[in-house]
Amino acid sequence: MRHRFHSICPYFAMFPETFVEKHLAASRFNGVVYDPFCGRGTAVFESLVRGRSAAGCDIHPVAACVTGAKCDSPTWLEVIHRLSELEAECLESQVTPDQGELGEFFSLCFAPDTLRQVEFLRDALDWQSDRTDRFVAALCLGALHGESHRSPNYFSNRMPRTISTKAAYSVRWWRRHNCEPPERDVFSILRHMTGYRYRTPPPAMRGEVVLGDARDAASTFRHLRGKVTDVITSPPYLDTTNYREDQWLRLWFLGEKATDRQARGDGRHYHLDSYCTFLIEAWAGMRQLLDGAARIVIRIGGRRLGKSEAMDMLRESLEAGLGRSTRLMDGGVSSRPKRSQANAFRGARPSPTMEHDFCFLVGA
Ligand SMILES: C[S@@+](CC[C@H](N)C(=O)[O-])C[C@H]1O[C@@H](n2cnc3c(N)ncnc32)[C@H](O)[C@@H]1O
Repeated sequence: MRHRFHSICPYFAMFPETFVEKHLAASRFNGVVYDPFCGRGTAVFESLVRGRSAAGCDIHPVAACVTGAKCDSPTWLEVIHRLSELEAECLESQVTPDQGELGEFFSLCFAPDTLRQVEFLRDALDWQSDRTDRFVAALCLGALHGESHRSPNYFSNRMPRTISTKAAYSVRWWRRHNCEPPERDVFSILRHMTGYRYRTPPPAMRGEVVLGDARDAASTFRHLRGKVTDVITSPPYLDTTNYREDQWLRLWFLGEKATDRQARGDGRHYHLDSYCTFLIEAWAGMRQLLDGAARIVIRIGGRRLGKSEAMDMLRESLEAGLGRSTRLMDGGVSSRPKRSQANAFRGARPSPTMEHDFCFLVGA
């Protein structure tokens, strides 16, 4: 059975567990598996499930929260106890709304009692340093918004699961379609989701997941120097997704300001040259972590990124960043990502993005 932690929360450009499974099976190494752009943690978590030591980082708080929750999880009982404690505190609490200019959005997105519970949890959960709180926060992120007309397990009015649609757009859409926010008891949903997720027990091994920049990995993961034999990763795609803007409601839940405006510094790249420079710096960040020989599997994508261009750029950036020679293990595989639920909601045409998979062997 597919491990139920995998799908705690959807994320962008995530690769399937089978991708990780296939590449782990093909590796003759058994040191640490590392993902510098771990996203929702498919590579790190699947490696742990398969008994491999694993670590990863991501600059995005949603990714770090969700991956940290899966890879360093509390016990089922710890989650259940914490939910009871939080529920009791919530009944007694006075919550001060923190909705910025988006009051209208919040009042149409959540029913009043649901919003009170969501705001309480946003304030109470110490997701950055407490393992149990991080797991509860990750469950909340997965349930915060979604197709609530189809499932009783989402807190919000009708929205896509994958992205947070912009506030003004959502308000117009709900008004046009006469959509009222559903009355949802957040704690009942969280208890139900806990039971569901823990039907597959957490892996015996714990992984290390850090909220941070891939370029700083040498200092972040000092203790992993020379221990990484397999990198399985997918860098932010060229010219494709705005990881911050499209996740603004989840970022708000994790403590950021309520804003859906264009954000900078989200790891998005529009130009091949600056993208290549970024990749060189990212690979340089993991240079000291790699063992004498290592296998590097990369899924890369972009609207205007052809296969041979992607392959040349990867080879060039790996050699420059790692200062070592690389050998391409096969010719690479190209595919088109599936149509996303978010684009179906927006009525957008299928994305012209292509994805390319490559595997390199890095020598001494
Ligand atoms: C294509 S996604 C990875 C998805 C992942 N493979 C999965 O299965 O969920 C790329 C990730 O790179 C992250 N990212 C962008 N710039 C970064 C940086 N400088 N350091 C670390 N992570 C970064 C983004 O936040 C995003 O989560």
